[in-house]
Amino acid sequence: MKTALITGASSGIGLELAKIHASRGGNLVIVARNKVKLDELKVQLEKEFGINVVVIEKDLAIPNAAHEVFEETESLGIQIDYLINNAGFGLYGKFEHSDWVQESNMIQVNITALTQFSKLYLPGMIARKSGKIMNVASTAAFVPGPTMAVYCATKPYVLSFSEALNNEVSSHGITVTALCPGATASGFSKTAQADKSALFSKTKLASSYDVAKFGYTAMLKGKQVAIHGFMNQLLAFMVRFIPRSLVVKVSRKVIDK
Ligand SMILES: NC(=O)c1ccc[n+]([C@@H]2O[C@H](COP(=O)([O-])OP(=O)(O)OC[C@H]3O[C@@H](n4cnc5c(N)ncnc54)[C@H](OP(=O)(O)O)[C@@H]3O)[C@@H](O)[C@H]2O)c1
Repeated sequence: MKTALITGASSGIGLELAKIHASRGGNLVIVARNKVKLDELKVQLEKEFGINVVVIEKDLAIPNAAHEVFEETESLGIQIDYLINNAGFGLYGKFEHSDWVQESNMIQVNITALTQFSKLYLPGMIARKSGKIMNVASTAAFVPGPTMAVYCATKPYVLSFSEALNNEVSSHGITVTALCPGATASGFSKTAQADKSALFSKTKLASSYDVAKFGYTAMLKGKQVAIHGFMNQLLAFMVRFIPRSLVVKVSRKVIDK
């Protein structure tokens, strides 16, 4: 059975992805900072599905954290068949007032760790001519986000990197999927201090389970880009034909408190 490494499995979409993979009989390596939540999930999933779950407590904002995780799975002799780069967070507020340490950590988690994990686990997948990577991007990949400028700028990177990498590795039998959720009920809006933004308080949020199920299915099918929800798919399509300056103005209205 396939083993999946899922970052950010202590909450929201990542937690649901872990449950879905476990329900199919797959083993797991789950990574996040909150060890209590990861340990609870391990106990629950091992009991319910008779699988093995390895917990790795790691702060992915620390440079080279991905390498430490890789060394741990290597030393345990665990082969990673599915790499799911899900960990990420946002931050609400105008850039002139926002905190650099938080933003720099965000870039490290959302971009650098995700890229380094891919760099580390890909050679094994290529050698085996098999493997799947899923990177969690966002509908923010298609639209700049005033008042969440840095977060929204991290996601076009994830989309672009995933699409390009998928093209490079498909000849080895490996697929890379970029999952693009819209606003989703999870710990995200609280962490980002965006609870009161129109996006999270006035729109109907998708459930983390629905997004995870959609993404997991797309990953198994080897889809390059998976945009969750019809309205989000429409948005991603329509923005190609609307002047960029207008897109940014509308985006501001949607995100603003
Ligand atoms: N919710 C949305 O509206 C939405 C929309 C589009 C895209 N997304 C993306 O979906 C992904 C999952 O987010 P979510 O909505 O499920 O939010 P969430 O419930 O807040 O979960 C985020 C996960 O990332 C982990 N994480 C955050 N910082 C970390 C760090 N420094 N080191 C290790 N792990 C860290 C958290 O674990 P710990 O706190 O335990 O470390 C948690 O497990 C993110 O990439 C997010 O950008 C979310």
